[in-house]
Amino acid sequence: MAILKILQYPDKRLHTVATPVTEVNAQICTLIQDMADTMYAAPGIGLAATQVDVHKRIIVLDVSETQDQLYVFINPKIVSRDGVHEFEEGCLSVPGIFGKVTRAESITVTALNAQGESFTLDAKGLLAVCIQHEMDHLEGKVFVEYWSQFKQSRVLAKLKKNQRNTM
Ligand code: NI
Repeated sequence: MAILKILQYPDKRLHTVATPVTEVNAQICTLIQDMADTMYAAPGIGLAATQVDVHKRIIVLDVSETQDQLYVFINPKIVSRDGVHEFEEGCLSVPGIFGKVTRAESITVTALNAQGESFTLDAKGLLAVCIQHEMDHLEGKVFVEYWSQFKQSRVLAKLKKNQRNTM
């Protein structure tokens, strides 16, 4: 078990576009286990490899209340999306900041699982929100970047202030 360091916004490495996983080997399996451990320890409901400074297309998430339903998506692709849904989001890389983002209400996603097998999942509600949020990380996008420049500058000021308070 290893807890990885989570990059904190506005770290520029969060803007890296991740590359596809070419082989689900032992190294990838260890990374997935470490990502899950890191997410549960935080605690959080989703984590993208980008957030632990590994720029491969892998996300883990668990939106269950019991925290025992881990989803692993390797090379995820959204193949269809439907509806519009506004949801209050947060992010382990942007602690203490929450706000609304509009996304598709339901999606169909294809990916490989931790065994390297392909699967298709229909997701809606929180699960769909979470998948879209984590997939944005793989494109180098953080949820606050959906907001206006004015609101983003306030986020940065608040994060600076919070950092000072914890030093
Ligand atoms: Ni996030």
